[in-house]
Formats: sequence, C-alpha cells, structure tokens
Amino acid sequence: MVNQIYKQVFSFFLSVLLLQSSTVSYVRKSFDLNKPCRHFVLYLHNIAYDDDNAANATAATIVNPLGLGDYSFGRVIICDDPVTMDQNYLSKPVARAQGFYFYNKKTNFNTWVAWTLVFNSTKHKGTFTIMDANPYGMEPTRDLAIVGGTGDFLMTRGIATLKTKLSQGSKYFCLEMNIKLYECY
Ligand SMILES: *[C@@H]1O[C@H](CO)[C@@H](O)[C@H](O)[C@H]1NC(C)=O
Ligand SMILES: *[C@@H]1O[C@H](CO)[C@@H](O)[C@H](O)[C@H]1NC(C)=O
Repeated sequence: MVNQIYKQVFSFFLSVLLLQSSTVSYVRKSFDLNKPCRHFVLYLHNIAYDDDNAANATAATIVNPLGLGDYSFGRVIICDDPVTMDQNYLSKPVARAQGFYFYNKKTNFNTWVAWTLVFNSTKHKGTFTIMDANPYGMEPTRDLAIVGGTGDFLMTRGIATLKTKLSQGSKYFCLEMNIKLYECY
C-alpha cells in the first residue's frame, strides 16, 4: 500500500518534471538581427610563411595537404594575424586573430576556423572567439558564429560576416569581418 503511494507520488513528480522540461524547450529568446548591441568592421590580414619571409609572415602551414582532391584537404594553418580598422595591412593593428584553420572539403575550398580576436590596447582589452565553417570557395559572404568572450567582450555572442577583400594566391589574403554582437554585458 505504502509502496503504491510512493509510486504514484513519484510518477506525479516525474510527469511534472517532464512537462516542465518540454515547456522550457519551447521558450525561444527572440531578437532583432538588425539591432546588434555592438557593431563594427575589422580587417584581418594573413601572410603565409614561404621560407624567406620570416620577418613578415603571420601564418604557417603545419600540416601539408595529403593529396586528397584538389582543394588542400587536410592542410592545417596556425596564425597570429594582425587585425586592423581599414583594409591597409600596414595600419596599426587593433587586435590579433590567434588560432588555426584547416581545409576540410574535397570538392571545393572550405576551411574550418577557430580564431580568438585578442584585444590588448588602452581602448579595448579582452577577447572574443569565432568558430565555424568558412566555405569561401562557395559563398562570397559567410556568417560565422562568435561563441564567447572575455574582458570588454565578456560572455558575448554574435555573428562575424566574412568577405574576402583581397587574395594573392596562397601568399596573402585580407578578410573583411563585419562583427555583430547580440549579447553584451
Ligand atoms: C617584409 O618586411 C620587410 C622588412 O620589414 C619589408 O621591407 C618588406 O617590404 C616586407 N614585405 C612585404 C611583402 O610586406
Ligand atoms: C598587453 O599589453 C601590455 C601593455 O603593453 C603588456 O604588458 C602585456 O604583455 C600585453 N599582453 C598580451 C597578451 O599581449
């Protein structure tokens, strides 16, 4: 008898719990994509190391392509790229894009990117991290997720819209990064 009551009480609480969790999963935060809490444009410059540009190189291939397809599948690059406010790579950097990217598509140019933008100036201190697929061979404009941050960008999230502004073979590229943050604290 007592056992029976326990069972009923237990199943009552279980159903309340299940009901709550299914209700919670239907609650959606909504926001206006056109109204980021912060919005700015940055330019990233990537100069590939080619054996005789050690002074200027900002990125180096650490794993070479394996010969699978014609799109560098498997190449891994580590970078510490300067990030400026305009398209001139000689402008004073406002941040560094530190991290890596690798090529992971056999049939087109597609990288997967993990970059932390590190700000360390009197104006801005902190970081935010971009992590996502970057299918630059297929899409002229790519939206990449900004997944978190520290300091001036504490706990931020948002979207970095990337466009390739200039590319010189595998030697150099400049990316426009349109940064829209939707969580600001
Ligand atoms: C690399 O650095 C050297 C010395 O700082 C400079 O003279 C040269 O123009 C740079 N090359 C490029 C491609 O920026
Ligand atoms: C940030 O800048 C300060 C002052 O110039 C310097 O002491 C510090 O080492 C820098 N930190 C990084 C991570 O670059």
